[in-house]
Amino acid sequence: LGAGQFAELVIGWQQQQGRHDLPWQHEITPYKVLVSELMLQQTQVTTVIPYFERWLQRFPTIEALAEAEQDEVMTLWQGLGYYARARNLHKAAQAIAKRGSFPADLETLQQIPGIGRYTAGAILSFAYDAYGPIVDGNVRRLFCRLFALEGYAGQSQLEKQLWQLAEQLTPQQHNRRFAQGLLDLGATLCTARRPDCANCPLQAGCQAYARQQVEQFPMAKPK
Ligand code: ADE
Repeated sequence: LGAGQFAELVIGWQQQQGRHDLPWQHEITPYKVLVSELMLQQTQVTTVIPYFERWLQRFPTIEALAEAEQDEVMTLWQGLGYYARARNLHKAAQAIAKRGSFPADLETLQQIPGIGRYTAGAILSFAYDAYGPIVDGNVRRLFCRLFALEGYAGQSQLEKQLWQLAEQLTPQQHNRRFAQGLLDLGATLCTARRPDCANCPLQAGCQAYARQQVEQFPMAKPK
């Protein structure tokens, strides 16, 4: 499965079968992408949606968030858990408001506190429809199966391989749809349990499927 073919399959499937009605997919701004991606990092879509809506009502712009008191920021995050994300989001907003513009390249994005490699790639893809490789839990599971990658989450050799693959497989066009397609495939078909290989556009190229070992990938961390 070549890179061009892979991107075409993911993009075509996203168009037909992917999610199109998530609140952060409409009237997209870099700020909305930042908020939604931090919220989605450890929390499911259905939980995030009402928090995202409330957040945008109370802090409609990055300046509004930057100027808010930390207490109010934490109160609005209450219930989402992993509270470091809220502090990071607040700090990121303050750093971006201070700069005067939202960064639009990988290096500058990653210099903002709270924005790591994944979030920087997601902002490039979703906000700017630009080249921005992403690897999260969904993409890790998908790539581990597709290429029958050995190793487990967090293992540096595997993580390095995953980012290399992401860089190679990410197209130069239709990046928003491609990134959404990767996440949608991981969330709806290439799931941890009971993957729906029968409906997967990548089935013919999937090495774990060919070996009938889909559920053995990614490998569990040894104890
Ligand atoms: N998880 C992380 N980013 C997402 C997005 N844009 N849509 C759905 N799930 C996601």
